[in-house]
Amino acid sequence: DLTAEQEQFDRLIADDSRIEPRDWMPEAYRKTLARQISQHAHSEIIGMQPEANWITRAPSLKRKAILMAKVQDEAGHGLYLYSAAETLGTTRDQMMADLIAGKARYSSIFNYPARTWADMGAIGWLVDGAAIANQVPLCRASYGPYGRAMVRICKEESFHQRQGFEILLELANGTEAQKQMAQDAVNRWYAPSLMMFGPPDDDSPNSKQSMAWNIKRFSNDELRSRFVGMIVEQVKTLGLTLPDDEIGYNEESGKWEHDPLDWDEFKEVLAGRGPCNAQRLERRREAHDDGAWVREAAAAYAAKQAEKRTM
Ligand code: 3HC
Repeated sequence: DLTAEQEQFDRLIADDSRIEPRDWMPEAYRKTLARQISQHAHSEIIGMQPEANWITRAPSLKRKAILMAKVQDEAGHGLYLYSAAETLGTTRDQMMADLIAGKARYSSIFNYPARTWADMGAIGWLVDGAAIANQVPLCRASYGPYGRAMVRICKEESFHQRQGFEILLELANGTEAQKQMAQDAVNRWYAPSLMMFGPPDDDSPNSKQSMAWNIKRFSNDELRSRFVGMIVEQVKTLGLTLPDDEIGYNEESGKWEHDPLDWDEFKEVLAGRGPCNAQRLERRREAHDDGAWVREAAAAYAAKQAEKRTM
Protein backbone atom coordinates (compact mmCIF):
# COMPACT_ATOMS: atom_id res chain seq x y z
CA ASP A 1 0.00 0.00 0.00
CA LEU A 2 0.96 3.62 -0.49
CA THR A 3 2.21 4.22 3.03
CA ALA A 4 4.60 1.25 2.83
CA GLU A 5 5.95 2.51 -0.52
CA GLN A 6 6.16 6.10 0.75
CA GLU A 7 7.98 4.85 3.88
CA GLN A 8 10.44 2.89 1.70
CA PHE A 9 11.06 5.99 -0.45
CA ASP A 10 11.50 8.21 2.61
CA ARG A 11 13.97 5.68 4.08
CA LEU A 12 16.05 5.63 0.89
CA ILE A 13 16.18 9.45 0.91
CA ALA A 14 16.96 9.57 4.66
CA ASP A 15 19.80 7.06 4.11
CA ASP A 16 21.08 9.26 1.26
CA SER A 17 20.62 6.24 -1.07
CA ARG A 18 19.77 6.20 -4.74
CA ILE A 19 16.26 6.08 -6.23
CA GLU A 20 16.25 3.98 -9.41
CA PRO A 21 13.70 4.09 -12.28
CA ARG A 22 11.93 0.91 -11.10
CA ASP A 23 11.53 2.22 -7.51
CA TRP A 24 8.23 3.71 -6.36
CA MET A 25 8.49 7.51 -6.13
CA PRO A 26 6.06 10.33 -5.31
CA GLU A 27 4.60 11.88 -8.49
CA ALA A 28 6.00 15.29 -7.42
CA TYR A 29 9.53 13.79 -7.22
CA ARG A 30 9.14 12.36 -10.74
CA LYS A 31 7.75 15.65 -12.02
CA THR A 32 10.47 17.92 -10.64
CA LEU A 33 13.19 15.59 -11.95
CA ALA A 34 11.60 15.42 -15.42
CA ARG A 35 11.41 19.23 -15.31
CA GLN A 36 15.05 19.76 -14.27
CA ILE A 37 16.66 16.99 -16.36
CA SER A 38 14.80 17.94 -19.56
CA GLN A 39 15.77 21.59 -19.02
CA HIS A 40 19.35 20.52 -18.47
CA ALA A 41 19.28 18.49 -21.71
CA HIS A 42 17.74 21.39 -23.67
CA SER A 43 20.47 23.68 -22.27
CA GLU A 44 23.19 21.42 -23.67
CA ILE A 45 21.56 21.31 -27.12
CA ILE A 46 20.83 25.06 -27.35
CA GLY A 47 24.26 25.71 -25.82
CA MET A 48 25.83 24.31 -29.02
CA GLN A 49 24.66 27.32 -31.02
CA PRO A 50 26.78 30.27 -29.73
CA GLU A 51 29.96 28.20 -30.14
CA ALA A 52 28.97 26.51 -33.42
CA ASN A 53 28.85 29.98 -35.02
CA TRP A 54 32.61 30.28 -34.40
CA ILE A 55 33.77 26.89 -35.70
CA THR A 56 34.15 28.28 -39.25
CA ARG A 57 35.77 31.46 -37.87
CA ALA A 58 38.33 29.86 -35.56
CA PRO A 59 41.78 31.53 -35.82
CA SER A 60 43.69 28.27 -36.35
CA LEU A 61 43.13 24.61 -37.23
CA LYS A 62 44.03 23.63 -33.66
CA ARG A 63 41.38 25.99 -32.22
CA LYS A 64 38.84 24.80 -34.81
CA ALA A 65 39.42 21.14 -33.88
CA ILE A 66 39.14 21.85 -30.13
CA LEU A 67 35.94 23.89 -30.54
CA MET A 68 34.38 21.21 -32.78
CA ALA A 69 35.17 18.58 -30.14
CA LYS A 70 33.59 20.72 -27.42
CA VAL A 71 30.38 21.33 -29.40
CA GLN A 72 30.13 17.60 -30.16
CA ASP A 73 30.54 16.91 -26.43
CA GLU A 74 27.59 19.24 -25.68
CA ALA A 75 25.42 17.25 -28.11
CA GLY A 76 26.44 14.06 -26.28
CA HIS A 77 25.64 15.61 -22.90
CA GLY A 78 22.19 16.45 -24.25
CA LEU A 79 21.63 12.86 -25.33
CA TYR A 80 22.78 11.43 -21.94
CA LEU A 81 20.32 13.77 -20.22
CA TYR A 82 17.38 13.11 -22.59
CA SER A 83 17.96 9.39 -21.90
CA ALA A 84 17.97 10.03 -18.13
CA ALA A 85 14.74 12.04 -18.46
CA GLU A 86 13.13 9.24 -20.52
CA THR A 87 13.53 6.83 -17.57
CA LEU A 88 10.93 9.02 -15.81
CA GLY A 89 8.35 8.34 -18.49
CA THR A 90 8.75 11.46 -20.65
CA THR A 91 9.37 10.63 -24.30
CA ARG A 92 12.17 12.32 -26.23
CA ASP A 93 9.68 13.33 -28.92
CA GLN A 94 7.56 15.10 -26.32
CA MET A 95 10.59 16.94 -24.88
CA MET A 96 11.73 17.96 -28.39
CA ALA A 97 8.20 19.11 -29.28
CA ASP A 98 8.01 21.23 -26.10
CA LEU A 99 11.38 22.87 -26.87
CA ILE A 100 10.44 23.59 -30.49
CA ALA A 101 7.08 24.99 -29.42
CA GLY A 102 8.94 27.39 -27.11
CA LYS A 103 7.25 25.76 -24.10
CA ALA A 104 10.43 24.34 -22.51
CA ARG A 105 13.00 26.20 -20.45
CA TYR A 106 16.72 26.03 -21.10
CA SER A 107 19.57 27.81 -19.35
CA SER A 108 19.29 31.62 -19.51
CA ILE A 109 22.97 31.90 -20.41
CA PHE A 110 22.53 30.73 -24.01
CA ASN A 111 20.32 33.68 -24.87
CA TYR A 112 23.33 35.99 -24.98
CA PRO A 113 25.32 36.64 -28.21
CA ALA A 114 28.88 35.40 -28.80
CA ARG A 115 30.29 38.53 -30.49
CA THR A 116 34.03 37.80 -30.87
CA TRP A 117 36.46 34.87 -30.80
CA ALA A 118 37.32 35.87 -27.21
CA ASP A 119 33.73 34.90 -26.31
CA MET A 120 34.75 31.28 -26.93
CA GLY A 121 37.25 31.77 -24.11
CA ALA A 122 34.81 33.54 -21.79
CA ILE A 123 32.12 30.90 -22.42
CA GLY A 124 34.55 28.02 -21.75
CA TRP A 125 36.02 29.62 -18.62
CA LEU A 126 32.89 31.22 -17.12
CA VAL A 127 29.88 29.30 -18.50
CA ASP A 128 31.44 25.83 -18.37
CA GLY A 129 33.12 26.82 -15.09
CA ALA A 130 29.71 27.70 -13.63
CA ALA A 131 28.25 24.53 -15.12
CA ILE A 132 30.95 22.50 -13.31
CA ALA A 133 30.24 24.26 -10.00
CA ASN A 134 26.56 23.38 -10.45
CA GLN A 135 27.05 19.87 -11.84
CA VAL A 136 29.62 18.38 -9.45
CA PRO A 137 27.10 18.27 -6.55
CA LEU A 138 24.50 16.88 -9.00
CA CYS A 139 26.74 13.77 -9.37
CA ARG A 140 25.30 12.85 -5.94
CA ALA A 141 21.67 13.55 -6.90
CA SER A 142 19.35 10.97 -5.32
CA TYR A 143 17.97 9.93 -8.74
CA GLY A 144 20.42 7.31 -10.09
CA PRO A 145 20.29 7.97 -13.85
CA TYR A 146 20.79 11.73 -13.31
CA GLY A 147 23.73 11.40 -10.92
CA ARG A 148 25.45 8.85 -13.15
CA ALA A 149 24.99 11.03 -16.26
CA MET A 150 26.57 13.92 -14.34
CA VAL A 151 29.72 11.91 -13.54
CA ARG A 152 30.49 11.46 -17.22
CA ILE A 153 29.49 15.01 -18.14
CA CYS A 154 31.70 16.57 -15.43
CA LYS A 155 34.78 14.76 -16.76
CA GLU A 156 34.31 16.36 -20.20
CA GLU A 157 33.26 19.72 -18.73
CA SER A 158 36.70 20.23 -17.13
CA PHE A 159 38.29 19.97 -20.62
CA HIS A 160 35.73 22.61 -21.79
CA GLN A 161 36.68 24.96 -18.96
CA ARG A 162 40.45 24.48 -19.49
CA GLN A 163 40.33 25.19 -23.22
CA GLY A 164 38.33 28.37 -22.58
CA PHE A 165 40.80 29.54 -19.94
CA GLU A 166 43.69 28.86 -22.34
CA ILE A 167 42.06 30.93 -25.12
CA LEU A 168 41.76 33.90 -22.74
CA LEU A 169 45.31 33.41 -21.45
CA GLU A 170 46.71 33.52 -24.98
CA LEU A 171 44.72 36.64 -25.88
CA ALA A 172 45.52 38.38 -22.59
CA ASN A 173 49.23 37.81 -23.31
CA GLY A 174 48.85 38.89 -26.95
CA THR A 175 48.63 42.36 -28.49
CA GLU A 176 46.87 45.21 -26.67
CA ALA A 177 43.87 44.76 -29.01
CA GLN A 178 43.68 41.03 -28.19
CA LYS A 179 43.85 41.74 -24.46
CA GLN A 180 41.04 44.29 -24.84
CA MET A 181 38.94 41.75 -26.77
CA ALA A 182 39.40 39.21 -23.94
CA GLN A 183 38.52 41.80 -21.26
CA ASP A 184 35.43 42.86 -23.23
CA ALA A 185 34.22 39.23 -23.46
CA VAL A 186 34.76 38.69 -19.70
CA ASN A 187 32.87 41.92 -19.01
CA ARG A 188 29.87 40.71 -21.03
CA TRP A 189 29.74 37.09 -19.77
CA TYR A 190 30.45 37.64 -16.05
CA ALA A 191 27.00 38.66 -14.70
CA PRO A 192 24.95 36.33 -16.97
CA SER A 193 27.14 33.39 -15.83
CA LEU A 194 26.39 34.22 -12.17
CA MET A 195 22.68 34.21 -13.01
CA MET A 196 23.01 30.64 -14.41
CA PHE A 197 22.86 29.41 -10.79
CA GLY A 198 19.23 30.50 -10.57
CA PRO A 199 17.38 33.23 -8.64
CA PRO A 200 18.36 34.26 -5.10
CA ASP A 201 17.48 31.68 -2.44
CA ASP A 202 14.56 33.74 -1.18
CA ASP A 203 13.08 33.69 -4.67
CA SER A 204 13.70 30.02 -5.53
CA PRO A 205 10.39 28.11 -5.27
CA ASN A 206 11.86 24.67 -6.13
CA SER A 207 14.92 24.72 -3.84
CA LYS A 208 13.40 23.67 -0.53
CA GLN A 209 11.75 20.49 -1.83
CA SER A 210 14.63 19.76 -4.23
CA MET A 211 17.09 19.90 -1.31
CA ALA A 212 14.80 17.78 0.91
CA TRP A 213 14.91 15.11 -1.79
CA ASN A 214 18.72 15.30 -2.19
CA ILE A 215 18.41 16.49 -5.78
CA LYS A 216 19.87 19.94 -5.10
CA ARG A 217 22.71 19.61 -2.57
CA PHE A 218 23.51 23.31 -2.16
CA SER A 219 21.38 26.41 -2.61
CA ASN A 220 21.62 28.70 -5.67
CA ASP A 221 23.35 31.45 -3.67
CA GLU A 222 25.79 28.99 -2.03
CA LEU A 223 27.01 27.68 -5.40
CA ARG A 224 27.10 31.19 -6.89
CA SER A 225 29.26 32.32 -3.96
CA ARG A 226 31.65 29.38 -4.40
CA PHE A 227 31.95 30.15 -8.10
CA VAL A 228 32.82 33.81 -7.42
CA GLY A 229 35.50 32.62 -4.98
CA MET A 230 37.03 30.48 -7.74
CA ILE A 231 37.06 33.02 -10.59
CA VAL A 232 38.30 35.89 -8.44
CA GLU A 233 41.55 33.92 -8.07
CA GLN A 234 41.71 32.58 -11.65
CA VAL A 235 41.21 36.02 -13.23
CA LYS A 236 44.50 37.17 -11.62
CA THR A 237 46.39 34.50 -13.57
CA LEU A 238 44.75 35.82 -16.73
CA GLY A 239 45.93 39.34 -15.98
CA LEU A 240 42.36 40.50 -16.59
CA THR A 241 39.74 41.92 -14.21
CA LEU A 242 36.15 41.02 -13.31
CA PRO A 243 33.65 43.87 -14.01
CA ASP A 244 32.61 44.03 -10.36
CA ASP A 245 34.35 46.13 -7.72
CA GLU A 246 32.02 44.88 -4.95
CA ILE A 247 33.59 41.40 -4.81
CA GLY A 248 34.79 40.52 -1.33
CA TYR A 249 34.78 37.63 1.14
CA ASN A 250 32.47 38.15 4.11
CA GLU A 251 34.23 36.43 7.07
CA GLU A 252 30.99 36.41 9.07
CA SER A 253 28.68 34.81 6.53
CA GLY A 254 31.51 32.78 4.91
CA LYS A 255 30.13 33.95 1.57
CA TRP A 256 31.70 35.75 -1.38
CA GLU A 257 29.74 38.94 -2.02
CA HIS A 258 29.40 40.71 -5.35
CA ASP A 259 27.55 43.47 -7.16
CA PRO A 260 23.75 42.94 -7.12
CA LEU A 261 22.62 41.05 -10.25
CA ASP A 262 19.93 42.36 -12.59
CA TRP A 263 17.05 39.95 -11.79
CA ASP A 264 14.69 41.95 -13.99
CA GLU A 265 16.96 41.12 -16.93
CA PHE A 266 16.93 37.46 -15.78
CA LYS A 267 13.12 37.44 -15.73
CA GLU A 268 13.00 39.01 -19.19
CA VAL A 269 15.35 36.31 -20.52
CA LEU A 270 13.24 33.56 -18.90
CA ALA A 271 10.12 35.10 -20.43
CA GLY A 272 11.69 34.66 -23.87
CA ARG A 273 12.64 38.32 -24.30
CA GLY A 274 16.43 37.98 -23.98
CA PRO A 275 18.93 39.17 -26.64
CA CYS A 276 18.94 35.88 -28.59
CA ASN A 277 15.90 33.82 -27.50
CA ALA A 278 14.05 34.10 -30.83
CA GLN A 279 17.20 33.37 -32.86
CA ARG A 280 18.07 30.30 -30.75
CA LEU A 281 14.60 28.79 -31.12
CA GLU A 282 14.49 29.61 -34.83
CA ARG A 283 17.83 27.81 -35.35
CA ARG A 284 16.62 24.83 -33.29
CA ARG A 285 13.47 24.58 -35.44
CA GLU A 286 15.52 24.80 -38.66
CA ALA A 287 17.94 22.11 -37.41
CA HIS A 288 14.99 19.88 -36.47
CA ASP A 289 13.45 20.25 -39.95
CA ASP A 290 16.83 19.79 -41.67
CA GLY A 291 17.28 16.55 -39.71
CA ALA A 292 13.82 15.09 -40.52
CA TRP A 293 15.19 12.94 -43.37
CA VAL A 294 17.73 11.35 -41.00
CA ARG A 295 14.99 10.40 -38.52
CA GLU A 296 12.78 9.04 -41.33
CA ALA A 297 15.66 7.01 -42.81
CA ALA A 298 16.59 5.60 -39.40
CA ALA A 299 12.95 4.67 -38.70
CA ALA A 300 12.57 3.04 -42.15
CA TYR A 301 15.78 1.08 -41.64
CA ALA A 302 14.67 -0.06 -38.18
CA ALA A 303 11.29 -1.15 -39.59
CA LYS A 304 13.04 -3.19 -42.33
CA GLN A 305 15.28 -4.87 -39.74
CA ALA A 306 12.24 -5.69 -37.61
CA GLU A 307 10.44 -7.12 -40.70
CA LYS A 308 13.46 -9.33 -41.54
CA ARG A 309 13.43 -10.73 -37.99
CA THR A 310 9.77 -11.78 -38.34
CA MET A 311 10.37 -13.56 -41.69
N1 3HC B 1 17.91 29.47 -16.78
C1 3HC B 1 16.60 29.19 -17.02
N2 3HC B 1 15.68 28.94 -16.05
C2 3HC B 1 16.13 29.00 -14.78
C3 3HC B 1 17.47 29.27 -14.44
C4 3HC B 1 18.38 29.52 -15.51
N3 3HC B 1 19.65 29.80 -15.29
N4 3HC B 1 17.58 29.24 -13.09
C5 3HC B 1 16.36 28.98 -12.61
N5 3HC B 1 15.48 28.83 -13.61
C6 3HC B 1 14.04 28.60 -13.49
C7 3HC B 1 13.77 27.25 -12.86
O1 3HC B 1 13.71 26.25 -13.86
C8 3HC B 1 12.41 27.51 -12.20
O2 3HC B 1 11.41 27.51 -13.19
P1 3HC B 1 10.45 26.24 -13.38
O3 3HC B 1 9.89 25.91 -12.02
O4 3HC B 1 9.44 26.68 -14.38
O5 3HC B 1 11.34 25.14 -13.89
C9 3HC B 1 12.52 28.97 -11.75
O6 3HC B 1 13.52 29.56 -12.57
C10 3HC B 1 12.87 29.11 -10.29
O7 3HC B 1 14.18 28.60 -10.08
P2 3HC B 1 14.47 27.55 -8.91
O8 3HC B 1 15.76 27.94 -8.26
O9 3HC B 1 13.26 27.40 -8.04
O10 3HC B 1 14.62 26.22 -9.78
P3 3HC B 1 15.60 24.96 -9.54
O11 3HC B 1 15.50 24.44 -8.15
O12 3HC B 1 15.32 24.04 -10.66
O13 3HC B 1 17.10 25.55 -9.67
C11 3HC B 1 18.84 25.35 -11.36
C12 3HC B 1 17.55 26.08 -10.93
C13 3HC B 1 19.93 25.62 -10.32
C14 3HC B 1 19.26 25.83 -12.74
C15 3HC B 1 18.55 23.82 -11.38
O14 3HC B 1 17.43 23.60 -12.22
C16 3HC B 1 19.70 23.01 -11.91
O15 3HC B 1 20.65 22.77 -11.19
N6 3HC B 1 19.56 22.56 -13.18
C17 3HC B 1 20.56 21.69 -13.75
C18 3HC B 1 21.73 22.49 -14.18
C19 3HC B 1 21.51 23.10 -15.52
O16 3HC B 1 20.43 23.16 -16.05
N7 3HC B 1 22.61 23.57 -16.06
C20 3HC B 1 22.60 24.13 -17.36
C21 3HC B 1 23.93 24.84 -17.48
S1 3HC B 1 24.34 24.98 -19.11
C22 3HC B 1 25.16 23.54 -19.40
O17 3HC B 1 25.22 22.66 -18.60
C23 3HC B 1 25.88 23.45 -20.68
C24 3HC B 1 27.37 23.62 -20.35
O18 3HC B 1 27.94 22.36 -20.65
C25 3HC B 1 27.94 24.67 -21.25
